[in-house]
Amino acid sequence: MVHQRNLPLLVDEAHGAHFAFHPELPPSALSLGADVAVQSTHKTLGAMTQAAMLHLQGSRVDPDRLAQSLRSLQSSSASNLLLVSLDAARHQIALQGQTLLTQTLQLAHQAQQLCEIPGITVFKAPEPWRGDRTRLTINVKQLGLSGFAADEVLHEQLGVTAELPTLQNLTFVLTIGTRPADIDQLVQAFIQLAQNPAQTDLSYSHSELPPAQTILSPRDAFYAPTETVALEKAINRISAELICPYPPGIPLLLPGETISAASLDYLQQIHSLNSLIALEGISDRSLRTLRVIQETGKKK
Ligand SMILES: Cc1ncc(COP(=O)(O)O)c(C=O)c1O
Repeated sequence: MVHQRNLPLLVDEAHGAHFAFHPELPPSALSLGADVAVQSTHKTLGAMTQAAMLHLQGSRVDPDRLAQSLRSLQSSSASNLLLVSLDAARHQIALQGQTLLTQTLQLAHQAQQLCEIPGITVFKAPEPWRGDRTRLTINVKQLGLSGFAADEVLHEQLGVTAELPTLQNLTFVLTIGTRPADIDQLVQAFIQLAQNPAQTDLSYSHSELPPAQTILSPRDAFYAPTETVALEKAINRISAELICPYPPGIPLLLPGETISAASLDYLQQIHSLNSLIALEGISDRSLRTLRVIQETGKKK
C-alpha cells in the first residue's frame, strides 16, 4: 500500500535481526520489500549493547541523503569497539547463522516442557510462521501472581531473568547464546514458582489511561517557563513533564497537556505499586511534586 503511493517503508525491526538467517523464523522486513530496516544487532545477535544496523535497499530512499541525515545525529567519534563487535556479529551469523539458530529453535522446543506445569500457560502463535519461537511468553495469572511479582521471585531467588515482565505475562528471549542448562534452569524455576506462588498482588488492574487535553504543543511547553508545585496543586495545570508508566509504555501526560484529577488518580494508583511499574520521565519519584508550566499574567 505504501509503495503504491511511492512512499518508502521504514521498519523498526529492533527484535528481528536474526530473522533472515533461518527459514523457520518469520520473514525479514527487507525480504518482504521494506526500503529501510533498523535492527538492534545487540538484542538478538552477538554485537555489544547499543550496536545496531540500518539496512537500505532499492531506490526510494537516497543513500546520500540518508548518510547526511545520520551525520547530523551521530557522534564524530565512532566507537571502534562497537563497530568491531558489529562486524564480528555479522561474520558469525553469516557463516554459522543457520546452525546456531537451529540449536536455538531446538532449545525453544525443549522449553515446551513448560506447558506441562500446572498454573502457567505458554503463548502459541496461531500459525508457526507468524511467531518468533525464540520468544517464550508465559502467562502466570492462574498462579495468583502478577508478572512483576513472578519476575521478582524468578530473578532474586531462582536465578532466571525475564526480558519483559508485564501485568500477567513474562517474556523470555532465547538467543544463539542460550544453552541447554539455561532452559533446564528456566523450567525448574517455573516448577518451583508454581509450587509456592506465595504472595498475591493482583489488586492493580490496567484501567484505561485517562484522556488528556492538549493546551500547548510539546515544543511550546518544552521552552515555556516552568515551576514545581505540590501534587494536589497540580490539578488543572499544564504539565511540563512527560510521564510514561512502563508497562504499558504509553505516556499518561505529555508536556503541554492538562493535568486532570483522573490522571493524578491513575498516577497515584501506579505509584502505590512501588517498584513494580516504572514511571519513566517523572522528575520527583516520591510523587510529592510535579513540574508544571508557569501561569502567565496571574495576579499575585
Ligand atoms: C520495538 C523497539 N524499537 C526500538 C528499540 C530501541 O532499540 P535500541 O535499544 O537498540 O536503541 C526497542 C528497544 O527495546 C524496541 O523494543
